Amino acid sequence: MASLRVLLRGFRGPLLAWAGCSAPRSFAAGANFEYIVTEKKGENGTVGLIRLNRPKVLNALCGGLIMELNQALDAFEDDPAVGAIVLTGGDKAFAAGADIKEMQNYTFQSCYYHNFLARWDHLTQVKKPVIAAVNGYALGGGCELAMMCDIIYAGEKAQFGQPEILLGTIPGSGGTQRLTRAVGKSLAMEMVLTGDRISAQDAKQAGLVSKVFPVETLVEEAIRCAEKIASNSKIVSAMAKESVNAAFEMTLAEGNKLEKKLFYSTFATEDRREGMTAFVEKRKANFRDQ
Ligand code: CAA
Repeated sequence: MASLRVLLRGFRGPLLAWAGCSAPRSFAAGANFEYIVTEKKGENGTVGLIRLNRPKVLNALCGGLIMELNQALDAFEDDPAVGAIVLTGGDKAFAAGADIKEMQNYTFQSCYYHNFLARWDHLTQVKKPVIAAVNGYALGGGCELAMMCDIIYAGEKAQFGQPEILLGTIPGSGGTQRLTRAVGKSLAMEMVLTGDRISAQDAKQAGLVSKVFPVETLVEEAIRCAEKIASNSKIVSAMAKESVNAAFEMTLAEGNKLEKKLFYSTFATEDRREGMTAFVEKRKANFRDQ
């Protein structure tokens, strides 16, 4: 993780200059970012909240925003008090996709040579569970970002879509892959080929989101779920997350083998001993992330 941060810092200057974005003002969570807002939530500050904050352009994802998002994720990942992260946007938009105005004059050469979008999926490297709380539009890169999270909660007016085809391009940050795995071939193909959006209710029915809430209570509910996750052992949660994610990469036999190894590994932790001892002693477990 440390080496990744060094790498990101190394790329920061030239990449931002190329992307036409000003540099983030700070790297610390809770500090004064330009394109996002971060806070710690939950009773004991166990939840890291990241809010995408470019409301005038419906949280269009410019290079600077992605850079700040990655910095905030790293800061929460390194914060021992934080056990889970919530990623949200505004009431009108989670994110309306990659910043089209920034992207408009890119060429194949610049995309290829500078690895455009290479840093967008840093979210998938985070060990702590991340919940997307989606109100409004989650389109293109916005839908892709939500799908990189571990759980998606949606507000009842949320809309999900991969409208890149209408711009003469295709999804570039996992849209054709993660959407297909989440909702199946026919619906994914329909969304990707027509650019049509689906509602929160349809997204839930298709398995893209796990719960739908009123717009006003969505973030609160996501924080509540994150708090519940954060009260468990961080090390064991990371193993559980690794194991579920392996289902997307491995055959059933390979996945079951990995799961078994991780299950055995939990027996090397103090938290596993504490969890089972607490059950037997009829008390609440006190996990210490060891
Ligand atoms: N990039 C840049 N600016 C955007 C934007 C985007 N993705 N989406 C919205 N905006 C801007 C608009 O240009 C507008 O700015 P101005 O006031 O300066 O004109 C402002 O946000 C408000 O947008 P609208 O006036 O269009 O709002 P609306 O309510 O009429 O429509 C919308 C909302 C349907 C989401 C519409 O804005 C829209 O279609 N946005 C583009 C969605 C899209 O195509 N996303 C995919 C991007 S490509 C991608 O993401 C590639 C990838 O896989 C990584």
